This record gives sequence, C-alpha cells and structure tokens, in this order.
Amino acid sequence: MRNHAKFEPPSSEITPEQRYLDRRAFIAVAGAIGAGAVTGLGFPGIAGAQQEPQAVGKPYGLQPDDKPTPWEDVTTYNNFYEFGTGKGDPVGAAKDFKTKPWTVRVDGLVNKPADYQLEDFLKPSAVEDRIYRHRCVEGWSMVIPWRGIPLADVIKRADPTAKAKFVEFTTLMDPRQMPGERTGVLPWPYTEGLRLDEAQHPLALLAVGVYGRVLPNQNGAPLRLVVPWKYGFKSIKSIVRIKFTDSQPKTAWNQAAANEYGFYSNVNPTVDHPRWSQATERRIGEFFKRKTLMFNGYADQVGSMYAGMDLRKNY
Ligand code: MTE
Repeated sequence: MRNHAKFEPPSSEITPEQRYLDRRAFIAVAGAIGAGAVTGLGFPGIAGAQQEPQAVGKPYGLQPDDKPTPWEDVTTYNNFYEFGTGKGDPVGAAKDFKTKPWTVRVDGLVNKPADYQLEDFLKPSAVEDRIYRHRCVEGWSMVIPWRGIPLADVIKRADPTAKAKFVEFTTLMDPRQMPGERTGVLPWPYTEGLRLDEAQHPLALLAVGVYGRVLPNQNGAPLRLVVPWKYGFKSIKSIVRIKFTDSQPKTAWNQAAANEYGFYSNVNPTVDHPRWSQATERRIGEFFKRKTLMFNGYADQVGSMYAGMDLRKNY
C-alpha cells in the first residue's frame, strides 16, 4: 500500500518445504476439530488465551480447497499501521496495548446514541464463529475463523433515523500507545465507512475473537470490523466509534491515495490497482497463486447491492 516501505509480493511468502508440510498437518488437525464442532457461545463468547487455537466456525463462501490459514500466520502477518508498517511489526509492538476498559461510542443519526463498555456493547447479541475468506488489496489472502457479532444487530439497536445513509468507523487515537500515530504514514485516527445497506448485510461482522480465542492485539483487539467481500483495509481495527451519517464518510486510505483506494473497495479481479493486477492472489502458506474471485467469492450474497453501479468508477 502507499507510503509503506515497499510492496513486496511473493518471495518472502514462500515457505520452506518442511514448514509447509508442518502446516498441512496442523490444518488437518484444526479441520478435524472445526468440522461440526459445537462452539460454546456463552457471553461474551471468548475463551481464555490458554486454550489451543481452534479453527471453529460455520464456513461462509469457502471454496472446496479453502482451508483455515494457520493461527501462526493469522497472528504474525498483519497490517496495523498504528503499530508499524511491516507485516511482522504489530505482533511485537502491540503486545502491551491496553484494551480494557474499552468504550464504544454509537452516535450520529440514530435514535439511541450511547457510550457502551465493550461487555455491554456485545451483550444482547449472540456471539458466532464464522470462517471467512480474507483478501488484502496488496495481493495476499487468508481464510480466517472469526468470532463476533453481526454488525446488523448493533445497527438495529442504535435505531438509525431515516436520514442515516452511511456508517463511519473510527479507530482509537492514542499516539502514546500507538507509535504509528506519531508518524505521518496515514491520516489519523484510521477511519473507514460503509453504505448503510452494506453495513446491514448479514455477512458484516464485528469480531472479538479469532480461532476460538480472544482477538490478539495485532488482529485489532478488542473489536474490529470484518467485511469479507471487500479488500482487507475496510476491516478497521480497535474500533472506538460507530457513527451514522447522511454523507459518505472520509476513509483513511482514500485520503492517503484517492486514486488507489476508493470508498467501495469491493474485491474485483477485473479492476486492477493502479500499480498491480488484482486478477490473482497468493494465499499465505501456499506456493501457487489462485484466481481472485468477484466479491472475494461472495457475489451471490452481495452482488445485488451493486446492481447498476459502474464498479470501475466506484472502485
Ligand atoms: N485497521 C487499522 N486501524 N489500522 C490498519 O493499519 N489495516 C487494514 C485492516 N484494518 C489496518 C486496519 C488492512 S490494510 C488489512 S489487510 C487488515 O486490517 C489486516 O487485518 P489482519 O492483520 O487481521 O489480517
């Protein structure tokens, strides 16, 4: 992405053969645990960190050859610019990030604005385990077993007014804890946005966990968005505010490079990034590239929201 040291695709992602084989073995075990496992969904649905990572959850939009990306990759290969621009930076730099207590503000064009403590924010909703495909705009992808609540539940509770057309999300602004926010690499705080109907789509998830465990800090603890049919940068981390608006929210990446990162950012193999093709992707842990799928494989579920729109213009 822009301003970022440099975009380095393949070579660093090719794993030595032995490690690759180890991963396949791990996946087999994780898959066996995950298949048909009934997850404990008790509030807040977050098991202790001591528990083994488990690839649990209902698969959504997975292709026949999709397997959960190993826990080790999901939690060490991250984009979280508040904690550095290198993929390996966040796991170390976010180690002491304080996520308790955590307040989430819900405001703007709603009948029920509120400041919630995280526990209260999650309470009325059922926490679900869902396995989604994850495609970064840089050309890599993963399959991730998330744990979270549907964003639609939160929207319903907030009761948007008739004027609300968009939802804006904001990450915590705390340069003391987030060293990246002391640099000019992005306009801070990180913001993202969705059209209201996109935000209400049943696939849009607010994640609090991954692999059956509490969300690690580097993955966006304690609360992050997951929008599986869009490029990963829409999935904003460490959210402190959800605001309903009547105009299209500004987003961090669009402000940083409007010609490269649009508001919609739907995964689309037919529209290239100005600096690279989006036709294929490298699944982390695999040797060969895969074809990127329209809307990241969720076209049947989300395509109708964009009917009649020029997706080349609305990139
Ligand atoms: N959210 C914040 N606040 N800051 C970020 O730098 N990076 C985005 C997104 N959310 C980012 C963020 C990008 S570019 C991607 S690809 C995903 O987080 C990566 O999520 P992951 O590290 O859990 O795979």
